[in-house]
Amino acid sequence: MKKRILVSGGAGYIGSHVSVELIEAGYEVVVADNMSNCDTTGIEGVRKITGRTDIPLVEMDFCDAAAVERLFDDYPIDAVIHFAAFKAVGESVAEPIKYYRNNLTSFLNVLDAARNHGGCDVLFSSSATVYGEAEQLPVTERSPRLPATSPYGNTKQICEDMLRDVTASDPSIRGIALRYFNPIGAHPSALIGELPRGVPNNLIPYITQTAIGKRACLSIFGNDYPTEDGTCLRDYIDIVDLAQAHVAAVTRMLEGRMKEGYEIFNIGTGRPVSVSELVTEFERVNGLKLNYRFAERRPGDVTAIWADTALANEELGWRAKRTLAETLASAWAWEKHLAGE
Ligand code: WQD
Repeated sequence: MKKRILVSGGAGYIGSHVSVELIEAGYEVVVADNMSNCDTTGIEGVRKITGRTDIPLVEMDFCDAAAVERLFDDYPIDAVIHFAAFKAVGESVAEPIKYYRNNLTSFLNVLDAARNHGGCDVLFSSSATVYGEAEQLPVTERSPRLPATSPYGNTKQICEDMLRDVTASDPSIRGIALRYFNPIGAHPSALIGELPRGVPNNLIPYITQTAIGKRACLSIFGNDYPTEDGTCLRDYIDIVDLAQAHVAAVTRMLEGRMKEGYEIFNIGTGRPVSVSELVTEFERVNGLKLNYRFAERRPGDVTAIWADTALANEELGWRAKRTLAETLASAWAWEKHLAGE
């Protein structure tokens, strides 16, 4: 019998790529999503790429506890990968109640339903944002979590703690938190990718939309940081590599290979890349010139963060494989696909 994985928020950017990799690794997938931040492009892409037209999409809100219980009644679930959450840092500062209510309630309901149904493995989608402006780089999983600088970041910390406490209290629930660095790029088929609504907050969609002519000019936020070229350093991780880390983590849980009831892994490449380097590489790989200018620093940005990936490499047997060039080509192919080219 194939193991069944519930992917909450599975119609979105990361969830759709993870669903593809799970299916290709031989798992059954149930996608559940309230479709508040995406359309059906993601799920349709997953069905097309995998040839599995029968993958269920359950439209539901994870803040509705009764609906989550019903979902667990309807499908025997071996593991949950929880993505369903709001993710705009700036919006979370303006509307903290919206973020706390949605991101905490939905995860609480998942944990409660898991417990009420005899337990299951839970993978939580966390973020390198929990490290804040780290004193020592690269960050390891044992680096301190600094006080969050946004309600969004705080919900990631609180959800990690919820998972830690629930797994400590109940041996029928095991948990892994994956701390993502900066996920970018798209599936090589160009059938799924990131679909930001409105003006993108993140760098790559802003770059690709500028290149295609949807935006006039990219602003590089700050060139006076204490780095070699003055722009911020990040660890950009390919979305398919990131998705494969989820398969490795879920398999570790399902095969009972965890060393503790709750584990944390950094998911990045281990390589810092500056904003200017990224822009130059994007231009080189895709053979185009990008219109950009240097602008003021963006409030809340840290100077530099990148991952020590040794733990994920050793324990998950996983490492990032795609080159930055391949990833940037995939991001551009996806933008062109969206434009119908
Ligand atoms: C990367 C770099 C910007 C846009 C955020 C969240 C994090 C995670 C991913 C999401 C920075 C610079 C950006 C632009 C620019 N969560 N930049 N011009 O800020 O590292 O991480 O997204 O769900 O929690 O904090 O990613 O892509 O926004 O920025 O110069 O128009 O690009 O200053 O140095 P970030 P990002």
